[in-house]
Amino acid sequence: MIAAPNQEEIALRLVVARGLIAQAGELAARCFADIASLTVTSKGPQDMASEADVQVETLIRDGLKAAFPTDAFFGEETGAAALDGAAVVWVVDPIDGTQPFLSGLSSWCISIACVVGGTIELGLVLSPPTHDLFVARRGFGSTLNGRPIQPHPGRTLGDGITSLGYSARVPGPVIVAVLDRLLAGGGMFYRNGSGTLSLCHVACGRLLGYVEPHINSWDCLAAILIITEAGGRTNDFLTGDALLKGNRIVAGPAAVYDALAALLEP
Ligand code: IPD
Ligand code: CA
Repeated sequence: MIAAPNQEEIALRLVVARGLIAQAGELAARCFADIASLTVTSKGPQDMASEADVQVETLIRDGLKAAFPTDAFFGEETGAAALDGAAVVWVVDPIDGTQPFLSGLSSWCISIACVVGGTIELGLVLSPPTHDLFVARRGFGSTLNGRPIQPHPGRTLGDGITSLGYSARVPGPVIVAVLDRLLAGGGMFYRNGSGTLSLCHVACGRLLGYVEPHINSWDCLAAILIITEAGGRTNDFLTGDALLKGNRIVAGPAAVYDALAALLEP
């Protein structure tokens, strides 16, 4: 078993991850400027990947491997590497919001989380189209482009906009019922096609809340730390086999958390 990193070693990982997400952002932005030239493959209904997703993930994975050879890696496109016995797992989504990206819309981002012994220690999310960089380190707060952020001050569903995450992994009627409950509770819905970016919008108060019946760990781990370090609340996502199989997600200000969680209850 490899020893867990101390705080100094976690701080070093943040420096390296910042450098890599900036490089990854430049690569992804170049691909976005020339979408028509990308080879696109279908992974399932409404679930695409392009060579941009793979290239960006490879850049991040190789950079982390070079800096921290004993750390494990789990990415949306290339899967898991060296998970057994690893003290540190990097969880990466190279382009979250692939459908918006391939459609020429700006709601996509890059997400990097660093997990140590089941605890999220670092979360970084970069939106290349808007140059928004969200960063959180456990115990040190969350920032957007270097400035501290807070969630929405609302106290009820009626006080702001709630994003409903949805993928074809979930039967359609499930999300229709969630929408019904949101409207009955005085809320308003939103979906931009990137769970990660929407969760970051919750962290900085642009959105009131976010709920999704099933989301993968690479889509939300970095953003979960960004929300909780900003003072917001999420469910305990990393229970059971959620790292590998995903889980539901509920996120928002503490005052509205119970109302948001109830949206996912039949
Ligand atoms: C998806 C998006 C979507 C969310 C799904 C994800 P992708 O990731 O984040 O908003 O609802 O759960 O799978 O396919 O754009 O990387
Ligand atoms: Ca994703």
